[in-house]
Parts: sequence; structure tokens; C-alpha cells
Amino acid sequence: MYSLTYFDEFGDQCTANFTTHEYHSLMELLFDKYMEEWGDCKGRAWCGTCHIKVLKGTLHEPMGEEEKHTLSKLEDSTKASRLACQIPLNAALDKLVIKRVSEHLQD
Ligand code: FES
Repeated sequence: MYSLTYFDEFGDQCTANFTTHEYHSLMELLFDKYMEEWGDCKGRAWCGTCHIKVLKGTLHEPMGEEEKHTLSKLEDSTKASRLACQIPLNAALDKLVIKRVSEHLQD
């Protein structure tokens, strides 16, 4: 069992436990077990609801074009930003610290 720390939309510190490949992505884990109102596009990197910032640790997963494009449209996006739906759930996420960024892309 692995765990990571996330700060939710209220700024509260929470822990998410997971096993490798329990879910396809970090977004699916947090959506299914811990969070509501995110993952609107079901992991297609379109909606931006799963926007996170990495506070501690490193994500080695390369960023795809769709993810880059969506992040570029989010006001709050920084170098630490990622879309959780594009991050595979695996042991590399153990001890990671992330923050949820509540923001939706405007149509
Ligand atoms: S679920 Fe829509 S961008 Fe990640």
C-alpha cells in the first residue's frame, strides 16, 4: 500500500492510499475514493477540473500535447501544474504531495 498527501479545495490536508495500478490514473483514484466534482471529461485532458500542483516530489510522466494545451488555458497554471488524469497510478506517486486547484475551463 502506498500513500500520497493532497490538499483539497478547502485547503485541508488529506491522505489517499492506493496500490499500484488500482486505478488507471491519479484522477480516477481521487475521484472514486476521495473527491467530488472533478474529472468531468473522464480523463481526456479537456476539462481542467483535475488540475493539481505538485508541492513535493517529482512526476516523471511526460506531458502530452493535449495536457499542455489545456493547462495553457487555465489561469492558475504554473510550472508545477499537471492534470491528474494524465498521471498513471503507480509506486512513483508514493509520498507525493499535491494540491487541488479548483478551476474550470470556461466554454
Ligand atoms: S479529467 Fe478532464 S482534464 Fe483531467
